[in-house]
Amino acid sequence: MSKSRNSMQTRRRISLFSSVLLLLCVAGCEPPGKPGAGEVSAEDVMDFPTLYATNCQGCHGVDGKNGAARILNDPLYLTVIPKDQLQETIEMGRPGTAMPAWAQSQGGPLTPKQVTALVNGIEQNWAKPVNFHGAAVPSYSGEGVNGNADNGRKLFGRDCFMCHGPGARIGSVTDASFLSLVTDQALRTSIIVGRPDFGMPDYRVLGLGHALSDQDISDLVAYLAEKRPPAVTAALVGPAPGAGNEGNKSTGSSSERGTQ
Ligand code: HEC
Ligand code: HEC
Repeated sequence: MSKSRNSMQTRRRISLFSSVLLLLCVAGCEPPGKPGAGEVSAEDVMDFPTLYATNCQGCHGVDGKNGAARILNDPLYLTVIPKDQLQETIEMGRPGTAMPAWAQSQGGPLTPKQVTALVNGIEQNWAKPVNFHGAAVPSYSGEGVNGNADNGRKLFGRDCFMCHGPGARIGSVTDASFLSLVTDQALRTSIIVGRPDFGMPDYRVLGLGHALSDQDISDLVAYLAEKRPPAVTAALVGPAPGAGNEGNKSTGSSSERGTQ
């Protein structure tokens, strides 16, 4: 009796599973949001809406917004990120995070032409001129601007605490568990661009009505980065530009390596 009920349940679950698989196949025969084996037909797709919907929208949201991962459909963001960095991020992904590498040369599913079609599509469809209202345009990577975590803590209390402090309804961005999933660049990008799709303002007004400077932004990142477990920080350091496949391996845990 209980045996046959079990097998009924199993059958029902399997048939549910196969309808999900069938749906996935109708949607392009690849699990959404995951680089697949790159079949020949998939490599021929060059049109931006299809490339975006198949590969990116599961995390970055329909039409580039309202996703779990960063809004990409944002003129301020696309003004601040240099085109070559946009391309490099898509090619290499962000090791140690949920953002995979997309270029075939990095083990991903997309040909160089498809990556170019995505980069051009993002810029042509979603970039627009931005009025900075006299505020300086921050540097995307903040290279050469060393952050001061002490000052970052003060700025956090002034500019972020009201929304991200304990008890605020928005998720805490100072938790080690959150910080373990994101790179310093992602933190920096969020502080510059905000989350206009969810109501976080951008750097032009975050400094209590003043624009945050490059130094302020680096200080805030340094403060948040200090709260991340050191072992995780090591895994989040991406490959040096041009380091190729070797860099990606650094995300493997050290205990998995060197056992012979
Ligand atoms: C007016 C409220 C508000 C203020 C002020 C604010 N944030 Fe946010 N922040 C938000 C909202 C809303 C989100 C989106 C939450 C979500 O994803 O569910 C967010 C998300 C984030 C994220 C996650 C990024 C992501 O892509 O989801 C980070 C990091 C962050 N904020 C940092 C900061 C820092 C640092 C400051 C101060 C400089 C700050 N925020 C100030 C409202 C605010
Ligand atoms: C499985 C989820 C996932 C998928 C699918 C995905 N991304 Fe991402 N993406 C992320 C996460 C998470 C980050 C932030 C990584 C970090 O911490 O730096 C990110 C970061 C990025 C950034 C850099 C944001 C910044 O900090 O400036 C770009 C650009 C980007 N993704 C583009 C894409 C494109 C284009 C696609 C499709 C080809 C894609 N992503 C697919 C999860 C995803």
